[in-house]
Amino acid sequence: MGENVIELSQRNKNKKIIGIEPLLNGQYFLADYCLKNNINNVLIYTEPAQIFISVFKKFIFDSIYILFPDPWHKKKHKKRRLLNKEFIKKIVLKSKKIYFLSDNFDYFSNILQITKNLLQKKKIISFSTKKFKIAKTKYLNRAKKLNKRLYFLTIDIS
Ligand SMILES: C[S@@+](CC[C@H](N)C(=O)[O-])C[C@H]1O[C@@H](n2cnc3c(N)ncnc32)[C@H](O)[C@@H]1O
Repeated sequence: MGENVIELSQRNKNKKIIGIEPLLNGQYFLADYCLKNNINNVLIYTEPAQIFISVFKKFIFDSIYILFPDPWHKKKHKKRRLLNKEFIKKIVLKSKKIYFLSDNFDYFSNILQITKNLLQKKKIISFSTKKFKIAKTKYLNRAKKLNKRLYFLTIDIS
């Protein structure tokens, strides 16, 4: 619902924050909140993140936040995950930092493996699994309520 986009926009008033969300509900909530609260450094992109990356080829982000991406639990659905080797390799070229948070251990360990591989190949500078600051998003609240363990990953690229 854009909670982290809103918090980032208020903490970084001189920066543009892009919320990428293909579903109407989230787009609507964020747009409505920004209009009602006079927030004018937020942009909403309404197609999937993969399209953004392929359309805006020269775009470089300060940071990318990927919080609770749909995990596609079943093995046969893993290919549908937003974060796979190909996508991570692409966004690593487009950002200085990537923040990832999930309550799904399988998703996290898969990304951690890809990250370690990128470090070996010197495509990134370092990574950390320490907690980082984010807004109380819908899925963070849900995970806390269900007492789920949280898996944080920060990738430092430059
Ligand atoms: C489990 S929800 C988490 C929402 C929010 N990040 C939070 O922490 O509450 C996953 C979100 O990812 C969005 N999503 C799924 N596939 C996406 C894609 N390819 N590009 C961008 N967003 C995507 C969904 O529409 C949904 O809003």
